[in-house]
Amino acid sequence: MDAGKLFRLDGRVALITGASSGLGERFAETAAANGAAVVLVARRKERLEALKAKIEKAGGRALVAPADVTDRKAMVAAFDAAEKAFGTVDLLVANAGIARVTKIVDMTESGWREVLDTNLDAVLFWSREAAKRMIAARKPGAIITISSIAGFTVAYGLSSYHVAKAAVVQVTKALALEVARKGIRVNTIAPGYIVTEINRDYLGSKDGQALQGSIPLGRFGAPSDLDGAFLLLASDAGRLMTGSTIIVDGGLMLMVGG
Ligand SMILES: NC(=O)c1ccc[n+]([C@@H]2O[C@H](COP(=O)([O-])OP(=O)(O)OC[C@H]3O[C@@H](n4cnc5c(N)ncnc54)[C@H](OP(=O)(O)O)[C@@H]3O)[C@@H](O)[C@H]2O)c1
Repeated sequence: MDAGKLFRLDGRVALITGASSGLGERFAETAAANGAAVVLVARRKERLEALKAKIEKAGGRALVAPADVTDRKAMVAAFDAAEKAFGTVDLLVANAGIARVTKIVDMTESGWREVLDTNLDAVLFWSREAAKRMIAARKPGAIITISSIAGFTVAYGLSSYHVAKAAVVQVTKALALEVARKGIRVNTIAPGYIVTEINRDYLGSKDGQALQGSIPLGRFGAPSDLDGAFLLLASDAGRLMTGSTIIVDGGLMLMVGG
């Protein structure tokens, strides 16, 4: 088997939420570089336009579909625009996410909802929309959610993030079970610490540097460190995988309790 061919995404239509920075930007570039037409979703339109130009310059195909992932009307419009431009989305990457630091005793209901709406509800509803459209079009496909090792641990002040990421693992498994017979695979990537805008300040701080020292492989990740897991789950290489969680964390989870 030619490894290059096994991981290709030619003819696929990929929609990536949170494509304006960090992991989502990288997933979009990787999908496009491997043959998929990509639909770029986030709120910061100018960033998406810049990424589209970069992808097209490299020979890829991209569409900008600005949307707030918590807005269901904008969600439907993004899928409609994708379908019009490229055909039914058969690869969804539900990646958009935020983190807010507040202890539970100080938390407001709106603060809780903001994180759960973005990191959990949107993952469920965008995944559901993608699955419904694939089923209607009788098209097999893949859905990749982005959870986190934070779905398996807790840290001070990040309860909403931890709860949402734990639930994303369960949403992934539940949906995987329900749509498997339709040829749709649903899997999640649980990254450890990957340096992006969500954490750059903290990871660069003294505490962050101490944390880096406790990672068995000795470093934080870069978005490109997820290329392998992403292509495995997106492509035919992962054809018998569904409901799986791939942890990509430099071995940090091995340190829990040890
Ligand atoms: N970096 C890590 O170490 C790490 C580890 C584990 C999991 N993750 C997860 O990976 C995902 C990507 O994070 P990242 O590290 O790439 O962070 P990032 O650079 O801050 O990117 C977050 C992305 O989500 C988008 N987003 C946030 N709220 C949105 C909303 N309401 N509507 C639409 N888009 C929204 C942002 O775009 P706009 O602001 O333009 O809308 C941005 O593109 C998140 O789910 C995060 O929890 C990250």
